[in-house]
Amino acid sequence: MRSDPDPNPKSEIRNPQSEHITVLLHEAIDLLAPRAGGLYVDGTLGGGGHAAEILKRSAPDGVVIGLDQDEQALARAREVLAPYGSRAVLRQQNFRDLPAVLEELGYEAVDGIVLDLGVSWFHLRTPERGFSFMLDGPLDMRMDRSRHQTAADLVNTLPVAELVRIFREYGEEDKAVAIARAIERARTRGPITGTVQFAGIVASVFPPYPPRRIHPATKTFQALRIAVNDEIGALREGLQHMIRALRPGGRIAVISFHSLEDRIIKQAFVAGATSCVCPPKLPQCACGKVPELRVLTKRPVTAGPDEVDRNPASRSAKLRGAEKLSAQS
Ligand SMILES: C[S@@+](CC[C@H](N)C(=O)[O-])C[C@H]1O[C@@H](n2cnc3c(N)ncnc32)[C@H](O)[C@@H]1O
Repeated sequence: MRSDPDPNPKSEIRNPQSEHITVLLHEAIDLLAPRAGGLYVDGTLGGGGHAAEILKRSAPDGVVIGLDQDEQALARAREVLAPYGSRAVLRQQNFRDLPAVLEELGYEAVDGIVLDLGVSWFHLRTPERGFSFMLDGPLDMRMDRSRHQTAADLVNTLPVAELVRIFREYGEEDKAVAIARAIERARTRGPITGTVQFAGIVASVFPPYPPRRIHPATKTFQALRIAVNDEIGALREGLQHMIRALRPGGRIAVISFHSLEDRIIKQAFVAGATSCVCPPKLPQCACGKVPELRVLTKRPVTAGPDEVDRNPASRSAKLRGAEKLSAQS
């Protein structure tokens, strides 16, 4: 399984440009092919890199609706995108709620959508947000802090079997059972509240790791973060809404960082591009399904060696794209 950027400040030291660097910027926006007058959605605004590129390429009057569920990310993006004035329409919203945003703004369909999933460097470098196992902070991990359950809530209350499922399914962690049992033992001594404390509990089931190797808690942190933010549910639901919201000829580009997400994106695009879904035994099509998408990327686009060199976080990024077909095609 590929994983998110290593939430380890050492990677930032290796990368002198440790401010957030937008991943697959040109590749993703080339896929969207923005044009003047177009209406676009960036569902994961973050530092605003993809949104700014769409705004540049759709000048003078293209509009980007930018969404981020994190109010701090949104505030930073607001500053970055201020030069574009009313062409950047920003909302604190989960992308799974795109239909409500479009309704509020009075739009029925859009020309392009970009998603760049996961957390940003800002999250990983801000200890009080609780995403980093190297920088001590509360075990929180909520991108949207109005959500009720923090990572600590899950870790302190979920049954062992559910913890095992999360670590296996969202982290593909081989030691899921041992980690869940270590958590069960630790929480009998008192609540687990801090990121470094939690990382220590996870690390205790592994042999000591050499200092510069990937931290043993990497997959568990990722899995917990995905569960806290219901990232898989949001992706599944969001993709369906987004495909529906594209006007004919409109395009969607999605960047993901691990295999579970990539599989969901691939399956959604392939399902949209498929015609008949009748059982093969039926002599004649009874479902009448017509394809609504054309897949633009047979294989996912990945970062080239130069980009990986400049930004190690891009090494696990995969970009897929699709185009909405007109009803007659
Ligand atoms: C990897 S960053 C995006 C970086 C951005 N493309 C850039 O160029 O700077 C992902 C951002 O998406 C946000 N995010 C993740 N899942 C989301 C969701 N379901 N709805 C809205 N925002 C989400 C996170 O809060 C984070 O700020």
